[in-house]
Amino acid sequence: MCAVLQTPDWTPSSWTSRPAQQQPSYRDPAALARAVDALGRLPPIVVSWEIEALKQQIADAQRGERFLLQGGDCAETFADCESDQIARKLKILLQMSLVLLHGLKKPVIRVGRLAGQYAKPRSADTETRDGVTLPCYRGDLVNRPGFTASEREPDPELLLRGYERAALTLNFVRALIDGGFADLHHPEYWNLGFVQHSPSKDQFERIAASIADSLDFFEAMSGSRVHEASRAPFYASHEALHLLYEQAQTRFIRRQERWYNLSTHMPWIGMRTAELAGAHVEYCRGIANPIGVKVGPAMDSAWVQGLCHTLNPAKEPGRLVLIHRMGAKLIDQKLPGLIETVRATGVPVLWVCDPMHGNTETTSSGVKTRRFENIVSELETAFRVHRDAGSRLGGVHFELTGEDVTECTGGARGLVDADLAKDYRSQVDPRLNYEQALELAMRIAAIERK
Ligand code: PEP
Ligand code: CO
Repeated sequence: MCAVLQTPDWTPSSWTSRPAQQQPSYRDPAALARAVDALGRLPPIVVSWEIEALKQQIADAQRGERFLLQGGDCAETFADCESDQIARKLKILLQMSLVLLHGLKKPVIRVGRLAGQYAKPRSADTETRDGVTLPCYRGDLVNRPGFTASEREPDPELLLRGYERAALTLNFVRALIDGGFADLHHPEYWNLGFVQHSPSKDQFERIAASIADSLDFFEAMSGSRVHEASRAPFYASHEALHLLYEQAQTRFIRRQERWYNLSTHMPWIGMRTAELAGAHVEYCRGIANPIGVKVGPAMDSAWVQGLCHTLNPAKEPGRLVLIHRMGAKLIDQKLPGLIETVRATGVPVLWVCDPMHGNTETTSSGVKTRRFENIVSELETAFRVHRDAGSRLGGVHFELTGEDVTECTGGARGLVDADLAKDYRSQVDPRLNYEQALELAMRIAAIERK
């Protein structure tokens, strides 16, 4: 299928000859080497044929035959690796995917930001409080959030603890998908209380009722539960940030004749680590997984075109996913040019909109938040601009949780800044809560039906 299988001048560690942003500095190199070595000997979390299946599905989405839903926490934490939280996260993603399937009338590729989303890029290497300066918190894979010298010291053992939790998480997700999660497909089990508070109440009720009817009809016709009849896979993704972690599980698979990162199905390159000559692009260039790249407003044409050619030189369908995150204010101005720039390369990409990261703001009392209406507005614009340009928005990327947190404002219940203190849990970016996430899926279904 693809002519160029081997990547010239690349090895799993060739990234070490390039500048690597956002890497922690460990005090004890021997302890780090032992941890990375141990990591490399553990069994993989995913396998190459699942990765290839996802790539095929992304290629379908590029042709408009599927739609990609990617979502989960900004950063997973070790403490949240417990059954209820994982089940609730899976539940909201499955419910959103059903609403999207119903609204868009095409199969939805479900990709969690989970099972490895433990490392975070930070804007500064250190943090100062009351005259004390310590290394910044880089995610549970690296160090601990408490503000003491010992908690902030990067600890190589955490690489192993993170990998183990990633495996536990995906193992549980796979079991839930395979087994007892069927009823969560049915709107009668959903928490639809927010619908009463929405100006779109009637429309949302129609959507839920119509999904319930369709499921009942399908089950009556086929004599089987919908989830038994369509055991659609669930894929994992995380930001490929900590390059020693990614390298450790990079294997050459003889059957495919290619290298794969087997710690996740779809790694992505974050906006802060996407320099063309940088280590993250170098690492991702040589693996066969589908690769996401975050594209922000500061990237010029040469940069974006360079990313397309470097990451997908063979123009392989399903390989490259461009996740634009412009912000509601800039998307109208930036997206049309970006679409033309990429089209000129002839490199096939799947376009995905992340309406979260360009819409982060700080309230007057210093709390990081995002407004639901800005998120919806960026999405609406993304669908429209792609359509007007003869392109296609093929997916969405969200930070969300299945919990009832108060981190983003707006939505049907009209959360305001003063509500944020009620249950704000994120150490990093604000997430949509259960109701806001489900409402967003309904809004997308409504946008696309207009
Ligand atoms: C993220 O996805 O959590 C993130 C940091 O995004 P970006 O790289 O787009 O800023
Ligand atoms: Co984030």
